[in-house]
Amino acid sequence: MTVDLAGKVATVTGAGSGLGAAMARCFAEAGAGVAALDIDEAGAAATAAAIGDELGVPTTSVRVDVGDPASITAAASHVEATLGRCDVLCANVGVQQFGAIDALSDEDWQWVIGVNVLGTVRTVRAFLPLIRAAEGFRRIVLTASSSVLSPGVRLGAYQTSKFAVMGFGETLRDELAGEGIGVTILFPGGMITRHLESSVLARPAALGPTEVDPADLDAMLAQKPMADGDVVMPEHAIRNLLADLEADEPYSVTHGSYRPYYEARRDAMDAALDRMERS
Ligand SMILES: NC(=O)c1ccc[n+]([C@@H]2O[C@H](COP(=O)([O-])OP(=O)(O)OC[C@H]3O[C@@H](n4cnc5c(N)ncnc54)[C@H](O)[C@@H]3O)[C@@H](O)[C@H]2O)c1
Repeated sequence: MTVDLAGKVATVTGAGSGLGAAMARCFAEAGAGVAALDIDEAGAAATAAAIGDELGVPTTSVRVDVGDPASITAAASHVEATLGRCDVLCANVGVQQFGAIDALSDEDWQWVIGVNVLGTVRTVRAFLPLIRAAEGFRRIVLTASSSVLSPGVRLGAYQTSKFAVMGFGETLRDELAGEGIGVTILFPGGMITRHLESSVLARPAALGPTEVDPADLDAMLAQKPMADGDVVMPEHAIRNLLADLEADEPYSVTHGSYRPYYEARRDAMDAALDRMERS
């Protein structure tokens, strides 16, 4: 790790837990102040307090629901009022809804797309003025998923949303390139977090309850079995993230084990292009 973020501020959504909390800590370890945002107010506050106590950087926390445009706009105002700037933004919130394609309801799709896709777009839109007002090292990290590299069954809504995050990120990177604001799409693989539990908790009551059906997990694992080392702690998963951001890499992965699935798809696409060129 070489990047020095002293005097800078990193804002992380979903920072109350798991990957977001790990990212917040990693930026603080590089010297940045941290704004921890989460629908779980206590979780965000705990992340900010622990980082502030242990690392001595300025921190703040605020409750945000990225599914609600007014909430994310208010959170950006809070960060500006408390920490004064935003140099690094991690739009990291994602919710999971397992289910076979014919079992997922309109409400399931509405929620997953609303939070994972529109929530990501809104987060960037709300914080972009602050990022543009800063100078020097500025980065936006969008949390997609290894399921974009290696799609699996029973994940239709989730991986559709994460493909959309990637599509958004590709355009965002091109649109911001001339301003010196780097955009990196992060593709996390399996991590030990509260993802399933926090997703169930975060779903708005108006959309009806949800629960994880173990049969969906079994079907997913039967199609793509996990090996030792495929599920890791988030801190370990992001050990290369700062280096990737410093190099302004477009993509950052957390596991190498998805390579064969990705290569199989790339080979199929190459073959499709070859057939077209020969026709
Ligand atoms: N855990 C994995 O194996 C895994 C794999 C690939 C991708 N991811 C992605 O990593 C990201 C972080 O997930 P995690 O594994 O750290 O899970 P997590 O549950 O530990 O953290 C997610 C956080 O998002 C918050 N959240 C949920 N809905 C919200 C909303 N509407 N507004 C604001 N905050 C909200 C939750 O309260 C929680 O604190 C997600 O985008 C997820 O899709 C996770």
